Amino acid sequence: MQPTGSVTYVRSNGMCERKRTVLDMLRASPGFVSGEQISASLGISRNAVHKHVKSLRARGYTICGISRRGYRLEEEPSKLVIPLLTEMTRESMFGRSFRYYDEIASTNAEAKSLADDGAPEGTVVIAEAQSAGRGRLGRRWTSPAGKGLLFSVILRPDLPMADAHLLTLVAATAAATAIEEQSGQPIAVKWPNDLFIGDRKVGGILLEVSGEQDEIGWVVVGIGINVNTEYGELPVALRRSAVSLKMAAGAAVDRSELLARTLLALETQYLDVVRNGFDRTLSEFRARDYLRAKTISVQTRGGAVVGEATGIDDRGALLVELPHRHVRRFHAGDVTLHAT
Ligand code: BTN
Repeated sequence: MQPTGSVTYVRSNGMCERKRTVLDMLRASPGFVSGEQISASLGISRNAVHKHVKSLRARGYTICGISRRGYRLEEEPSKLVIPLLTEMTRESMFGRSFRYYDEIASTNAEAKSLADDGAPEGTVVIAEAQSAGRGRLGRRWTSPAGKGLLFSVILRPDLPMADAHLLTLVAATAAATAIEEQSGQPIAVKWPNDLFIGDRKVGGILLEVSGEQDEIGWVVVGIGINVNTEYGELPVALRRSAVSLKMAAGAAVDRSELLARTLLALETQYLDVVRNGFDRTLSEFRARDYLRAKTISVQTRGGAVVGEATGIDDRGALLVELPHRHVRRFHAGDVTLHAT
């Protein structure tokens, strides 16, 4: 049995004095504290009070606000239980070195910089909140503090660069397996990196790779999962297309346990790839293929291509059947369901 790995707790630089006082006033009162009371005691405007409350909410505090009554603190943010995580992963290559942040710009950005500085394979960067979370295709990834899973893992596989993109499918199928085990919710994977419950996105993978010519230097696998996010905490633009495990299952899910399970599933799948190649990953992906048999639209530089998704080939490329049975392969691209 290996000893428990190292955990570095990296506290964020904390709250400004005023926000801390707003929080202390809310904590001290079981009922509502009026905006006027807070603004008078701090000597700031009501608008500034509202901004501090908004930013506390973004840090995971649940604060009820009712006009003419004020604000009431309902719930403190719930943090990951790191001892449980280290215990569950103590024999895993992903249990050797954790870096745990209250808040960070992006766990992927941090993992990339650690990888550049020589951090070993298996290093895991975790955050309760991200101020500049990154998604695929230059998009943002947002999640209220303490409600989702936001983490990145450093890999140093002995694989050719041409195989690197297949690790997205490895991470997606591993995360899907773990989420399903933990929450009981069936998870489909939308090529190449989206995790779906029904027709809504519950998580995503962002793979970033560095290397030279045919040799991978490092891979950072970033995983974001909406775990206990409430409907009202989703960005307004995503409320019809996103979901959390809590919303789908009707009950909160233990984030620490889910994180440990995801790391263990990722290790199993990754070690299998390193030893035996990608066959298992490809067949697991095919069994969870969200797009298969659907009419889809793939955005390419030359415009949108519409056809029927028929699966993936042995290199992980998306297969799309066009009129006259002509099949096109896509190695990258943004895919949406085609409205009929
Ligand atoms: C996507 O669906 O576009 C991919 C989303 C990946 C988000 C995760 S959250 C943890 C890690 N750090 C980031 O900045 N992004 C990934």
